[in-house]
Amino acid sequence: MRKVIVLNGPNLNLLGQREPALYGSATLVDVEAMCQAAGARLGVAVECLQSNHEGVLIDAIHEAGRGVKDGSVLGVVFNAGAYTHTSVALHDAIKGAGVPVIEVHISNVHAREAFRQHSHLSPVAAGIVVGFGIEGYVLALEGLVRKFGPG
Ligand code: DQA
Repeated sequence: MRKVIVLNGPNLNLLGQREPALYGSATLVDVEAMCQAAGARLGVAVECLQSNHEGVLIDAIHEAGRGVKDGSVLGVVFNAGAYTHTSVALHDAIKGAGVPVIEVHISNVHAREAFRQHSHLSPVAAGIVVGFGIEGYVLALEGLVRKFGPG
């Protein structure tokens, strides 16, 4: 069974307590459990990782790319948090590793501040899910499997 990496970036460990009007009351543990359940339904193994550090996220993308090459990884569901709007390094990592990435945002970033309306990841993403709350992670998993898997 191929693996999908559910990758969360900075501050997403604070889900549930962080701006609940925007991001809801579910915690990251709830989100990851939801992704595990969706993976079981969709026929893929789900591995979850969260980091507040850009380099750790870059390493995870590189490792996922190696997994895509050896056939063990299908792709990545990635909420890069604020790094979405700042990180050329994550753009380059996704492009360089050749890994299908579905970009996820819990909130509708296009209805928010101007600085959230540009994504460095969207041009190298295989798909984008924005504004569906935490259900977006499940939609992204499903989209990834429909487009590339489960294999
Ligand atoms: C976010 C949107 C980003 O602008 C923000 O920095 C986050 C969360 C979202 O899921 O809506 O940390 O990616």
